[in-house]
Amino acid sequence: MTRQEKKFSGSALEGKHHINLTVNGQLYELAIGTGAGKVNPSDTLSFTLRETLGLTGTKVSCDSGACGGCTVIMDGRAVLSCMLLSIECDEKEITTIEGLKNPKTGELDPLQQSFIDHTAFQCGFCTPGMIMSSKALLNDNPSPTEEEVKEALSGNFCRCISHYQIVRAVMAVSGKGK
Ligand code: FES
Ligand code: FES
Repeated sequence: MTRQEKKFSGSALEGKHHINLTVNGQLYELAIGTGAGKVNPSDTLSFTLRETLGLTGTKVSCDSGACGGCTVIMDGRAVLSCMLLSIECDEKEITTIEGLKNPKTGELDPLQQSFIDHTAFQCGFCTPGMIMSSKALLNDNPSPTEEEVKEALSGNFCRCISHYQIVRAVMAVSGKGK
């Protein structure tokens, strides 16, 4: 038994040599191991998204679960991709900021457009995480109150103090459907 096999012994990954991730509707079968295109057991989901799949829209800021910048939607819930190991995400459905636009027309999601219309960012580094947390809220509750928006965004930090515009941008699409 290799060291890697020992590590997975008794876990859901026992005997597995790859993981399946569905990202933005596309299925990726990723071999577990080291080297280009593979998932090292210690890789975080944010690392796999950015470095292995090239989806750099997800930003990594603190890399320790404190800022919300790396938020993606996994099986309908907003999660911090820097705090999850990719191997824990086997068989999960993930949406990143790249997955919000209309795949046929390329049109932005109304929430993305609202962030632009309300100048809801300055440097924009926190923006993908803000949008993904807001999107998870709107998917679950299409007509949130301002308090519910603030609560949903309470784990997302913006160093540029764009919070007022961000709440306005989300409230502008509240009640307008998914
Ligand atoms: S980069 Fe993940 S929470 Fe800050
Ligand atoms: S717009 Fe700069 S951190 Fe939010």
